[in-house]
Amino acid sequence: MSAPPKSLPLILSELRHATTGQHQALEKRIPFFTTDRLLYSRLIQAYYGFYRQLESQLAPVAMTIPKLDWLVRGKIPSLEADLYALGLDAAMIEAIPMCRAPLATGTAAQVLGVLYVLEGATLGGQSLRNGLHARLGIDEYSGCRFFSVYGTSTQVMWRGFLSCLYEVRDPAQRASSVLAAKTTFSAFEEWLDTCGVLQ
Ligand code: HEM
Repeated sequence: MSAPPKSLPLILSELRHATTGQHQALEKRIPFFTTDRLLYSRLIQAYYGFYRQLESQLAPVAMTIPKLDWLVRGKIPSLEADLYALGLDAAMIEAIPMCRAPLATGTAAQVLGVLYVLEGATLGGQSLRNGLHARLGIDEYSGCRFFSVYGTSTQVMWRGFLSCLYEVRDPAQRASSVLAAKTTFSAFEEWLDTCGVLQ
């Protein structure tokens, strides 16, 4: 007799169910198919303003989550490399506005909910990187390192993240993770809108 199919951990199916619509809506509005280098540069600046603020907010709790490897998950060095490659200097990067969205990140469950969004965003990166190369002629050395941040380790990093996420089992904690993920998606979309980089 064959083994029954392994069911998806509740936390992952709840996160997917709650955020698929938000992912689809955002995916349609981000101008990845642009041939306008200036718009692409403004998009990366807007990403930087969101991630920089959020990563420093996540760090104190993220650092305590066993096996998360927080220190290798930061995207700021890649975003900074892209900004320099796109022609900004240190003073211009320092002057980029920061997003101040009030996201709750006080517990591991909340942090893992936020990270579901940030880590999940690396999954579509490879195809985006190829498209950006075709349209703007840039690669990871000339402006799109962020979109291949984990390179060939993308799936390994995602599985490592999921094994931390699966520790969120308690119903109240699951609910707080889901709320954190939903709030992150909407805060990100709102921020990109404020920065004037969405279609
Ligand atoms: C044009 C933009 C985007 C495209 C084309 C895209 C594409 C994709 C693709 C193809 C996957 C599935 C990959 C796989 O299963 O191996 C995925 C997953 C995901 N993406 Fe995106 N994405 C985009 C933007 C974003 C953004 C901006 C975010 C968040 C800020 C995001 C968050 C996620 C999440 C959380 C998942 C994981 C879903 C899951 O497996 O539970 N994506 N994306």
